[in-house]
Amino acid sequence: MFAAAALQSASKPEQYAELCEQARGLLHDESDRIANAANFAALVYHALPDLNWAGFYFFDGTELVVGPFQGKPACVRIALGKGVCGTAAATRETQVVRDVHAFPGHIACDAASRSEIVVPLYDGERLLGVWDVDSPVPARFDDADRAGMERLAQIFLDSLRRR
Ligand code: SME
Repeated sequence: MFAAAALQSASKPEQYAELCEQARGLLHDESDRIANAANFAALVYHALPDLNWAGFYFFDGTELVVGPFQGKPACVRIALGKGVCGTAAATRETQVVRDVHAFPGHIACDAASRSEIVVPLYDGERLLGVWDVDSPVPARFDDADRAGMERLAQIFLDSLRRR
């Protein structure tokens, strides 16, 4: 379906450009949230280098609840404002955490995680959840990842409105 090996050796902007194209193709023609979240998480997890978790937390009206993901089993519920995920949801800002051990209130699901990026998912004013990616490599994520992950997350959000 896609050349994961080729993607891993490309520059970050190239990786995200290719990944965005693949995500559009994968989610094209489908608007089911679980189906698209599951395929989206699998696509990103297997395409990008140095990841140990990639997935969704969805807002249930009270807190964030784990959704489709790739990686080890994760904590199920996260309160708004708590951890990196709850902070992204509450502030509406992508969180790029170079060192998870230095992030106050970081919630350790997989002890291997050293850095993390979390993109809040909003449909206008409505909180849908967050897109969360972890890495075992310190400082794995930077501004290129922020831009790329935000574009990818928008493709996921757009897919839900299609029908
Ligand atoms: N580290 C996250 C919790 C979720 S796991 O990384 C999958 C946080 O602090 O919110």
